[in-house]
Amino acid sequence: MSDSTTHESVSVGELGQHVGQVVLLRGWLKNMRSSKKLHFLELRDGSGVAQCVVFKGDVTPEVFALAGGLTQESSLKILGEVREHPKQKGVYEIGVKDLELLAGATDFPISPKAHGTDFLMDHRHLWLRSTRQHAILRVRHAIIQAVRNFFDSRGFTLVDAPIFTPNACEGTSTLFETDYHGQPAYLTQSGQLYMEAAAAAVGKAYCFGPTFRAEKSKTRRHLAEFWMVEPEVAFMDLDGDMQLAEDFLCAIASHVLETRKPELEALERDISKLESIKPPFPRITYAEAIDILRAEGHDAKMGDDFGAEEETVISSKFDRPVIVHRYPAALKAFYMKQDPANPELSLCMDVLAPEGYGEIIGGGQREDDLGRLEHMIDHHQLPKEAFEWYLDLRRYGSFPHAGFGLGIERSVAWICGLPHVRETIPFPRMLHRLAP
Ligand code: 4AD
Ligand code: MG
Repeated sequence: MSDSTTHESVSVGELGQHVGQVVLLRGWLKNMRSSKKLHFLELRDGSGVAQCVVFKGDVTPEVFALAGGLTQESSLKILGEVREHPKQKGVYEIGVKDLELLAGATDFPISPKAHGTDFLMDHRHLWLRSTRQHAILRVRHAIIQAVRNFFDSRGFTLVDAPIFTPNACEGTSTLFETDYHGQPAYLTQSGQLYMEAAAAAVGKAYCFGPTFRAEKSKTRRHLAEFWMVEPEVAFMDLDGDMQLAEDFLCAIASHVLETRKPELEALERDISKLESIKPPFPRITYAEAIDILRAEGHDAKMGDDFGAEEETVISSKFDRPVIVHRYPAALKAFYMKQDPANPELSLCMDVLAPEGYGEIIGGGQREDDLGRLEHMIDHHQLPKEAFEWYLDLRRYGSFPHAGFGLGIERSVAWICGLPHVRETIPFPRMLHRLAP
């Protein structure tokens, strides 16, 4: 391409600002169709897709022939004039003047026809280029933006938690064990214990990072590696925790609606379902949740844990997330604070997403009594030595505190309306999947 250096390089998303100008675009060929005198190239560059019209009379015979032989996903440089689409207002296209093939692509494995899930997962590195996956990536980014904006604007300090840890935070059955210079260590299940230390330093702390669970079962909601955001606040109780979770989820839903409507539309998400994510969220006790299940004909009794099926029934009663609090202590982790009104219960809560997307938040108030916490570590048969540092937080100025963890992937599934978490993270790690 001879005179490419004299023209401004722009992205598809910026075309509207360059109507009437000759610009340079770079990207990949998504699709094309041809007639005798015209080739319509769909160029994709990550910021959007533009139709580039190659008219036989506007280019050299070599360029016209080159355009006619292009294959899907070839990388291209295109010089052309920006104009508004003749039929669609606000859509811009390119009248091509020159074209250069940067690198060809032979037999791109993912064609516009339908492919099976395993095939697509094996080609995840290429599948990410599709319109749908692109939309999911952008919504995921917007959710993470909302997470950071929310805590950063409320006086929280970001405190990073370690990935290697000697502690089992969420039970010993889902630990990934690894060798740490001859000493056993685990990939972290949660940054919570470290955030409790951080809350005593900065008052309001949050961490955001990858967490790991060696989940042995194949479900639509479980990943072996997922991203979790975990706030922890000093002198906050369970009520404050539920309020924080409610404000937080409302902020996420409204930020995504403000910034990613086109992507939600591309995903055919029913946007009205997200528009109803407004305060107040219903708050019910575990006992009330059991009543709902029974009224719906489920054989549920006090002490039962909720799986996907139960969560779907409970959430179907509400048009927004529902907070279920005060589960039996026997169902929950060692660190949960005992309910002073009923020692069988924990001051904990789960937030269930609407429409059956399941538990997206788990958290609660932490046990701040040294003796009780020692008892619980014992009761859960956890190695006390590994938790001595954690017990120190109760030895030196113990304080009431609470927090929660939000799973990013389950949130992406809910906001995007995806039935399975495998598409919510760029490169999922699941029971039988470590590649690509
Ligand atoms: O309920 P969980 O296990 O809670 C904790 O880890 C607490 N220590 C958090 C805290 O209080 N700081 O996990 C929290 C959330 C779940 O509600 C869910 O959204 C997500 O993390 N999650 C998973 N997401 C995908 N795959 C898995 N295997 C997940 N396990 C939990
Ligand atoms: Mg949980």
